[in-house]
Amino acid sequence: METKIFKAPDLSAAAELIQQGELVAFPTETVYGLGADATNVAAVEKVYKAKGRPSDNPLIVHVADQATVRQFVTTIQPAVQRLMDTFWPGPLTIILPLQPGSLALQVTGGLTTAAFRNPRQATTLDLIKTAGVPLVGPSANTSGKPSPTTAQHVYHDLKGKIGGILDAGPTDLGVESTVIDMSTAHPAILRPGAVTRADLERVLGPIVDSQKQVKPDEVPKAPGMKYTHYSPTAAVQIVDPKVDWATVVSWSQQQPTPVGILATDAVLNHYAWPENVATYSLGTDIHSASHALFAGLRAFDLHPDITTILVEGFSPNGLGEAYMNRLNKAAGQHHFSTADLR
Ligand code: TXA
Ligand code: MG
Repeated sequence: METKIFKAPDLSAAAELIQQGELVAFPTETVYGLGADATNVAAVEKVYKAKGRPSDNPLIVHVADQATVRQFVTTIQPAVQRLMDTFWPGPLTIILPLQPGSLALQVTGGLTTAAFRNPRQATTLDLIKTAGVPLVGPSANTSGKPSPTTAQHVYHDLKGKIGGILDAGPTDLGVESTVIDMSTAHPAILRPGAVTRADLERVLGPIVDSQKQVKPDEVPKAPGMKYTHYSPTAAVQIVDPKVDWATVVSWSQQQPTPVGILATDAVLNHYAWPENVATYSLGTDIHSASHALFAGLRAFDLHPDITTILVEGFSPNGLGEAYMNRLNKAAGQHHFSTADLR
């Protein structure tokens, strides 16, 4: 299949493909999503196939307004209403108990709950309104790879497998939405994002939850949590904030193969890097770093010779919680240590 590229804001052809039950990748303020009509079972099934996604990992339903959510749920509790009023449209996904039968099993992975998100990017809202249906939208990457933050990333992973890509340039935030479970007695943050824990606690009061890893045989709260994520082909290591980067420079010098360094300008500009080092800038702070993390991992993945990527760590507070959550998954918890120096 030919994958067509559409340039926002002209999205009528993209909306038509969605209505025909085809897949179209679309931009949001977080990452690119792989869009399909959430009310069309055959279209939803194609999403799993194109991504190589396990069928028990449910999809987020993207809506253009709060009213659409009411078609699929029985009640909206006051706390949920406050979340919607405060953070929608925006990078917050809310898990709610589903009105039985209102969405296909393929959307919910067989759960009795579903995930809803009202994105804030104008192009996304336009596409949902023009198509006239809510859109499922997992990140538009091959399962296990870093989420796409440009149309080129999507094309790299999914060309020939989807009908089109709606290109609106690089996404704003760079990490996926915060996922909060509001379907149980106590709210739980299932995935940290740009709507931070502190932001949510200002609306809900203290949140007691576990960001625990789920073993393959356990029934996971967020089914996505048990799968490997964000893994480039190269091995990724986290450089903790306390590490002296001079030791990274000496370690890199001793490596027989090229090394990728993903760090802020303050670090990159401060050292004379050996010839075997390729660098990619995380910019100046946690915001630019979150924006650049997935793009940087993907950029190094295009160098077949780079087998190790070292990435600057941040303190896990505020947006740093989302950044470190993704980086920990990409690195499989591997930290650079001076014990590696010899
Ligand atoms: O920012 C985002 O959320 C992007 C953009 C495109 O909107 N989408 C995204 O979708 O990241 P995806 O499918 O890659 O991640 C959705 C996460 C998965 O970990 C999934 O397991 C979880 O949400 N999820 C979906 N429905 C759920 C449910 N009913 N209960 C618990 N977790 C759910
Ligand atoms: Mg994803």
